[in-house]
Amino acid sequence: MELKQQAIEILRRNDRGGYTVPTATGLYPAQWNWDSCLVALGLVQFDEPRAVTEIETLFGGQWPDGMVPHILFHGDDSSYFPNAAVWQAGPTGRSSGITQPLVAATVVRRLFEGTSDPVIRARLTALAPKLLAWHRWCYAARDPHGTGLVSIIHPWESGMDNSPVWDDALDAVEPGPSVTHLRKDTGFATADHRPRGPEYDRYINLVIKFRDNGYRADRLFDIAPFRVADVGFNAILQRANRDLRALLTATGDIAGAAEVEAMEERTGDAIGRCWHEEDGFFYGVETRTEKVIRKPGVPGLLPLFADAGVAARHPRLVKRLESWLARVTYGVPSFEPGRPEFEPQRYWRGPVWLIVNWMLIDGLRRNGRAELAERIRRDSLTLVERMGFAEYFNPLTGEPLGGTGFSWTAAMYLHIAANE
Ligand code: DGY
Repeated sequence: MELKQQAIEILRRNDRGGYTVPTATGLYPAQWNWDSCLVALGLVQFDEPRAVTEIETLFGGQWPDGMVPHILFHGDDSSYFPNAAVWQAGPTGRSSGITQPLVAATVVRRLFEGTSDPVIRARLTALAPKLLAWHRWCYAARDPHGTGLVSIIHPWESGMDNSPVWDDALDAVEPGPSVTHLRKDTGFATADHRPRGPEYDRYINLVIKFRDNGYRADRLFDIAPFRVADVGFNAILQRANRDLRALLTATGDIAGAAEVEAMEERTGDAIGRCWHEEDGFFYGVETRTEKVIRKPGVPGLLPLFADAGVAARHPRLVKRLESWLARVTYGVPSFEPGRPEFEPQRYWRGPVWLIVNWMLIDGLRRNGRAELAERIRRDSLTLVERMGFAEYFNPLTGEPLGGTGFSWTAAMYLHIAANE
């Protein structure tokens, strides 16, 4: 079967009625926030109304304070740990209590501008105030002192769970009791491809701490033992700010657009200050200690996705990316190859993720670096052609890793192959 058709089949197979599970294997039996948004970019290639439904279902789980959880548990979640019974979060008790990168506005803008159907436009227009409420929540809850950089309080919020970028901040978290015997992920994916025990214990101990505090947005920022103003999370937010402003303007919400413009200005300046002149890279900060995190992970490349002027201001960043690509067979590795922390097969510690590749392709094109974007585009398509629709890939060998028949890989394949 043709690969595009295979990708469509995967998205249909993983459709649970209004939302898409990341994989049918049981590894992730729920709706993940950024997975869903990025899946919509694939769905729209063959079923526009269904793409909109994906986002609507996600926003159906928005909390009254505006937060959109990182997981919504709609059905049987018994193959996942921590499931809804562990989280005990939100008004319905069917979600997690933390968020994930705010890519939704970028996707909704793309869907809005790509359609001429008035019904689809009306549905997307109805999402705009909900998107605004989420962005507002993000600044109020995670940047209460108005620095322009929002903080994540759990590595899962970054979506890049066990990137070496979090190692030091996570080390400072009490591990709590071991949860190795409760883990289910290692029953579905090879343990060597997944986070290690000490990290997992801390992930869960953070959840328990947040649960004990009722997931109250006005408390978590202060009590969170892990607090990082990640440059990648903020770059994705900044791109979404731009897209949300455009969407609000197009749908006639001028006051909303002005509000977002103020967010954009603050965050643009703050991301600019994350540039580390000596190292020639963008770094985030541990906001408990104000320590700069001098680890070259893929989050530090994402300002390219946020801002079309970054490559011109910082040509060394693009050179750095080129040097990473020169050391791997398939780009883009999620952490700088050659560093002691680089592990080409373990979750976010080195492997290639097509969703990140899409952000870099898009960002490089906007930054006038079409040739480099094309190299990453070719690598992305070749990986799927040779290795299938894996969750992520070894950048040295191409080995398929993690879950199989993966929704966002299928979606990104369709989106990247369409070459928009
Ligand atoms: C997991 O369980 O690995 C997820 O990435 C958490 O969101």
